[in-house]
Amino acid sequence: MALLEAIQQVAKHPIGEAEALPFGSYHSPEVYAAEQASMFSRDWVFVCFEADLPTPGDYQTLTLAGEPIAVVRGQDGELRALSNVCRHRGAVLLTGSGNLDTHKISCPYHAWTYSDEGSLKGVPYPGSVKVNKDAHCLPHFKLASMLGLVFVCLNDDVPPLQERFKGLEKYYSSYEVDSFRYTSGIVSEHWQANWKLAMENFLEGYHFFAVHKQTVEQAAPTNKVYYVEGHADWSITGGKQKDYARTLLGMIQGKEEEVEYLTICMPPNFVALLYEDYISWVRALPTGPVTCEVTFGTVSRHPYQASKSELSFSEKFFTEDREICERVQQGMSSQRSKGGQLVELERAVVDFHQYLAKQMFGEDYSEFYRNNER
Ligand code: FES
Ligand SMILES: [Fe+2]
Repeated sequence: MALLEAIQQVAKHPIGEAEALPFGSYHSPEVYAAEQASMFSRDWVFVCFEADLPTPGDYQTLTLAGEPIAVVRGQDGELRALSNVCRHRGAVLLTGSGNLDTHKISCPYHAWTYSDEGSLKGVPYPGSVKVNKDAHCLPHFKLASMLGLVFVCLNDDVPPLQERFKGLEKYYSSYEVDSFRYTSGIVSEHWQANWKLAMENFLEGYHFFAVHKQTVEQAAPTNKVYYVEGHADWSITGGKQKDYARTLLGMIQGKEEEVEYLTICMPPNFVALLYEDYISWVRALPTGPVTCEVTFGTVSRHPYQASKSELSFSEKFFTEDREICERVQQGMSSQRSKGGQLVELERAVVDFHQYLAKQMFGEDYSEFYRNNER
């Protein structure tokens, strides 16, 4: 198919020659199907932080490539990725996130019940039929966590998670992510935009000065964003942010300090901003060729209650991101126009394109990319 070939061609370009992907890749059902098959069915996909599911019975649901999944912390303390589909007649069992206060998963349709490990426990009104409970357990999927981040994978033959994200530990280890235990909950939104637009948007600081003029740019300006390291498997960008809170006197005198932050992308669907004491993350999951679910979360080292003004600040700049991505989505239907060159500040976007090419076409251009950048 011409469009897939065009995507493959674009992903070959090193920075300097790199371009935006063909617009059709942001609405084509064929591309969407290829992405589901090559990424969301095959690779490790981020779910949430372990700290988001601290207590036995805590669960978080998500749908990957059409597969409803519930990540549940069992009474034994273990996290499991269970099929979230009833083995009776297929109702989706759990929605959103929460806690199984009865330690059981109960189907909303005819109330078959399952343990938090997925075994069938109860079948109401079976009449004369003896339901074979052992034959009706919920299937499990691969789940692994790394540095407090929980990932699932539909593909049993996937390489281990640590290997998939090899090289990233050095960035996380100084953060001791395991000590980030306090979360302020997860919020999901539905965007009228292809999931790649959301990911690309969260990957680059190039748009701060234009889209977030009154919000992000005031604290973390575009001209303080720099690329650190990256390739098809992940990427790291850095930036500097004003930190008024560091010294009271500094705040009073208007002398702010600067703190550095890192933006980490673990494709296909996770981007996080790492600060000294907290991590602000975002997860993007496709829900259709032109729609996605975007989930935001934070996790911090110390108990923390965001102030009203902080909450309205975040709400404002998330809205700015959603609105610009939805606006870009409208541009994607153009037949006459096409994508242009990517600039230095979009290098992490180029890495993300390398990832798409690697997963979709089985080719790894990262060596090519590295050789061409010098
Ligand atoms: S579909 Fe779940 S109990 Fe019938
Ligand atoms: Fe943004």
